[in-house]
Amino acid sequence: MSNESNHIARRDFLKLAGVGGAGLILGSTGVGGTFLASQYFAKDKKNVKNKVNFYGKYQSGITTQVQKHIYFVVLSINKMSVSEVKEMFKTWTNYSVHLMNGEPVQELGKNKLLPSPDTGETIGLDANRLTLTFGISPSFFEKVGLTKHKPELLEDLPHFPKDQLDKAYTGGDICIQACSDDPQVNFHAIRNLIRVAKGEVSMKWSQSGFNSFKDTEGNIETPRNLFSFKDGTGNPSINKQSELDKFVFIQDGWAKNGTYIVARRIQMLLETWDRTALEEQEATFGRYRHSGAPIGKEKEYDEFDPDIKDKNGERLIEKESHVSLAKQSKTNILRRSFSYSDGINPNTGAFDAGLLFLSFQKSPEQFIKIQNKMGAADKLNEYITHRGSGIFLCLPGVQEGEYLGETLFNRI
Ligand code: HEM
Repeated sequence: MSNESNHIARRDFLKLAGVGGAGLILGSTGVGGTFLASQYFAKDKKNVKNKVNFYGKYQSGITTQVQKHIYFVVLSINKMSVSEVKEMFKTWTNYSVHLMNGEPVQELGKNKLLPSPDTGETIGLDANRLTLTFGISPSFFEKVGLTKHKPELLEDLPHFPKDQLDKAYTGGDICIQACSDDPQVNFHAIRNLIRVAKGEVSMKWSQSGFNSFKDTEGNIETPRNLFSFKDGTGNPSINKQSELDKFVFIQDGWAKNGTYIVARRIQMLLETWDRTALEEQEATFGRYRHSGAPIGKEKEYDEFDPDIKDKNGERLIEKESHVSLAKQSKTNILRRSFSYSDGINPNTGAFDAGLLFLSFQKSPEQFIKIQNKMGAADKLNEYITHRGSGIFLCLPGVQEGEYLGETLFNRI
């Protein structure tokens, strides 16, 4: 992009964001780097129905009780300077607070001769527990010239056994995860976040998905994936700080209270699975389908004993079952996946369906260890193929008056 068009794109970005005035005044008074006054940032509204707060120790959408829908998008940055990226994150902070309040990103325009500042498809809807989670990848640091601030652990994932990754679903610089109980609320959020940054970022890949679970007055059952097994039972508890500290959140450095997110688009071969006997399906996971209990046990949360034997001393659970292999890796990750269904594969006439696998961990090594075990030996491999992949550092949570990525941009 030429300097001229870069400049124009940036001006458009500011205009659409409605921040030009405030930003330029502060910028010209030389408040080094602080482009917007902190009081400028929108506030979480209190007592709003179905609302999750934007501000907090961690970003939303990680320890939030899982919602029914996701829209996950990965963006590429066009040529941008650090200060432009910083501005974009400030605007995204503001937009995100409004979106999670269930409000338009800006007041709806009165002038019908101009495009509306908010695209408008959520008029009349509430926040629907919308959460927005932002992450940046290794290539983000390179493109913006911030490599020396990249956490050492943030590296592209290695190639795993049996990976069949498609470039169309791999890589990218920034990810935004929108989750809520309404697919249109997610779409609206992503659409407006991208719209305000148009010219600065382009869309690389995206995946929407769904989750279904029984909700008895807030008592939510573990969702089932498209193989009909409960998915999420073995997760660290989102209510236990000790488990979050041990497995999920980064404990020091500028990225403290951030986490690494791994996204894998995993195709599930439903037709093959549906031809498989229920007993073999259960052996594949090491759990019963109906209750989700470990084989040999009764209840979903009974302890999984990979070496459990029957009364004749025969092993009940195969060492290559999915859960046994995960246990052998001696670590854990917080999985927050969603099913997807993208129509029909034109080559096979089969469903193009699977799992948008998303896991949060304080070190990518946790995922790598588990996937190395599984990629080579997992009984589940007969029924799945990894098609897409991304790794991102989810930025630390934002306190009121601060903006997304502030602890990184303050170092420059
Ligand atoms: C389409 C692909 C996948 C499906 C259908 C699937 C399904 C399941 C199911 C049904 C369980 C048992 C219940 C539970 O604890 O959630 C489980 C457990 C687990 N899975 Fe997966 N999974 C998939 C991919 C992966 C991948 C790629 C990883 C990580 C590399 C992974 C890591 C785990 C872990 C850590 C557990 C918990 C084990 C424990 O109890 O400690 N899964 N998965």
